Amino acid sequence: MAGRGFTVKKRWDNPVEHAMPAEARVPAEVRLGAVAVRPATVLAPMAGVTDTVFRRFIRHASLFSHAELGVNADLASHISESRSGAPDSMGDSQSSVGETQIDASITNAQSGCGLIMTEFTSADGLSRMRETKRRRYLTFYEDEHPIAAQLFGSNPETLADAARIVEETGFDTVDLNLGCPAKRVVGSNGGSGLLRDLPRIGEIFHAIRKAVTIPFTVKFRMGWNESQIVCVELARMAEAEGLNGLALHARTREQGYSGQAQWNWIAAVKEAVRLPVIGNGDVRTPEDAAAMVAETGCDAVMIGRAAPANPWIFRQIAQYTATGRYEKPTTEDRYQMIRAYFEMLMAEAEATKDLPRDARMGDPVGKMKQFATWFTHGVPGGAKLRSAIYHARYGADVLSEVERFFVARMEAGESAEPEIDAESEDAARAFADAALVCD
Ligand SMILES: Cc1cc2nc3c(=O)[nH]c(=O)nc-3n(C[C@H](O)[C@H](O)[C@H](O)COP(=O)(O)O)c2cc1C
Repeated sequence: MAGRGFTVKKRWDNPVEHAMPAEARVPAEVRLGAVAVRPATVLAPMAGVTDTVFRRFIRHASLFSHAELGVNADLASHISESRSGAPDSMGDSQSSVGETQIDASITNAQSGCGLIMTEFTSADGLSRMRETKRRRYLTFYEDEHPIAAQLFGSNPETLADAARIVEETGFDTVDLNLGCPAKRVVGSNGGSGLLRDLPRIGEIFHAIRKAVTIPFTVKFRMGWNESQIVCVELARMAEAEGLNGLALHARTREQGYSGQAQWNWIAAVKEAVRLPVIGNGDVRTPEDAAAMVAETGCDAVMIGRAAPANPWIFRQIAQYTATGRYEKPTTEDRYQMIRAYFEMLMAEAEATKDLPRDARMGDPVGKMKQFATWFTHGVPGGAKLRSAIYHARYGADVLSEVERFFVARMEAGESAEPEIDAESEDAARAFADAALVCD
């Protein structure tokens, strides 16, 4: 796009003058056992969203910012280099993936996302699955480290077996899901269903802790409902059983995604334990992240729904922490970003097309449509683009609709920055509702 003559503007003059006060700074590091998470920001697990392509996309998202690199780096080509040894078995996915051209620690610092997590994975399923299917659920690439695998289930022994598989596969940490509100999960006592059975949670903590040596964390909601808040007790149990950290989504199961996350409960949990506490719920901007740290004293901040709409958020938090200001993506940045994500999806589909069906990447065109929908909500004119994309049959058609949309905006000098309006609020709600069927 450089040839099209778009200009790049710096958004501030002397950022160092605006450094954040210490109490509102997202920490530079949090340690989950032996694993250092730098900076202390985490991409929340999101079923249907945080697959290997999306996770790597977030890790590399910084390449789509103009200011520091001064170039329009081609993310997709970097990624395809890192993926050149596409796995043909679980073990190979760890050992034979080609050399990445992007040093993971540098990339972390650039993107500002210290830890990424898989979508939640059924422990029952994992222990029953054929090797090929496990591969699809547990595939990750070298440039994803540090990475956590999240499990859900209700049987302590099955969960312990699944945690062993996670450890053998090479994940850096294993996480237990006690938050998912989906009926199918809760119905079999998994996810937030377990919040009504603390003794069972104690058994599960114990069994998983005994089964693995990698750091073990838990992600949970405050409780089943307002009259059964268990998060402080649960945090103490986690500490007593030797877990290495916890993440609290500060809502009850009954709340689903409605209302506001109640950060005061994150503060209460932080007060109660010495374990690292990761705060989660309703962080949409760098300002929110700073406010969460200031209000709760949490050791790290986890971000879910804001990431697909604004993949730069982790980097923006890092900038805001350091300088009190952050860059906003230009229309060109947004265009490059969506295009690169699509190219990554198609590259992954191509790289896995000869694998057994279970191990192949799912429908890339469906994913492109889904992502384009989140990414353009609130963007002026986005509804028209979404409708065109909805009717597209092939990946190339989606790409050309996206190109048409963004190039027209750039040539007209119009912004593609989302405006928070009724439409984007509706989209946020629809996205959250998707989580209620998050399996
Ligand atoms: C589409 C979607 C899927 C989700 N899937 C999971 C999941 O697999 N495991 C989990 O622990 N939480 C899951 N969540 C919850 C998020 O991890 C996070 O706790 C929640 O969205 C609140 O954070 P946010 O306000 O930053 O979005 C999901 C949320 C969404 C929107």
